[in-house]
Amino acid sequence: MQIIKTIPALRELRQQCQQRIAFVPTMGNLHQGHLQLVEAAKQHCDQVWVSIFVNPLQFGEGEDFEDYPRTEATDCEALEKIGVDVVFLPSVSDIYPRPLAETTQVHVPMLSKQLCGVYRPVHFDGVSTVVNRLFNLLDPDVAVFGAKDLQQLRIIQRMVADLGMRVQVQSVATVRESDGLAKSSRNRYLSLDERAEAMLLYQTLKSIKQAILNGQRDYAYLEEEAFNALQSAGFKPDYVAIREAGFLQAPNTDTKQLAILAAAYLGQARLIDNLVLTIT
Ligand code: PAF
Repeated sequence: MQIIKTIPALRELRQQCQQRIAFVPTMGNLHQGHLQLVEAAKQHCDQVWVSIFVNPLQFGEGEDFEDYPRTEATDCEALEKIGVDVVFLPSVSDIYPRPLAETTQVHVPMLSKQLCGVYRPVHFDGVSTVVNRLFNLLDPDVAVFGAKDLQQLRIIQRMVADLGMRVQVQSVATVRESDGLAKSSRNRYLSLDERAEAMLLYQTLKSIKQAILNGQRDYAYLEEEAFNALQSAGFKPDYVAIREAGFLQAPNTDTKQLAILAAAYLGQARLIDNLVLTIT
């Protein structure tokens, strides 16, 4: 496995590479969920390239940019073990040579300012900007993202379509702990008691799903009931929302593909999760 730290070295390697490349962008602190993305990437291409970059542009004021766990050495060991070909480990000044406030950004309208975007107003512009930059640098054939961040996935899909990028975006189902909690680097912020409670988020989404499958169509009622249930259990929910699964807009009576999404704090940890379902 090659570890590349500079853009000139990356460009040279990319130019020499005649094989198809599947790319997995990450912020490191890798867990089973990321490794599944790599496994999926292997199915699509001859080579898997991974980036590890904690992107300052996607953290708002007061968020955990400084504290975000940086574990490059163990991450690289894990990636080597599962057969990754290249790890790109750029510095902030490689990715953003100009001051952040002066850096050109990619903004995906509608999608980026709703749901999590209401509570994290700069987050998705930061994500689309860095992913665009990484796509330009690596020129991958395929890029793999987790479905746990459904809003992020939809934003990337929209950016790729709108900007006519050649990369093919693939998604991988959420990897869960045995009690259903979605794996996330931020789960490490949970205390032992909170960790035991955290699975309630997924349980709540499953209850909504079941109610919809049982014929309940009053989505506002389901959202409110779930929000209150999470609050009573000690969460501080940002939202519980039922949307059409494509571009996460409000569903209408003809909508068949639904996404149930939620974001809630439990202690210091902001947890997100979603379920997608089809109704007849
Ligand atoms: O999902 C993440 O880890 C990040 O948002 C991403 C896609 C690597 C961009 O920084």
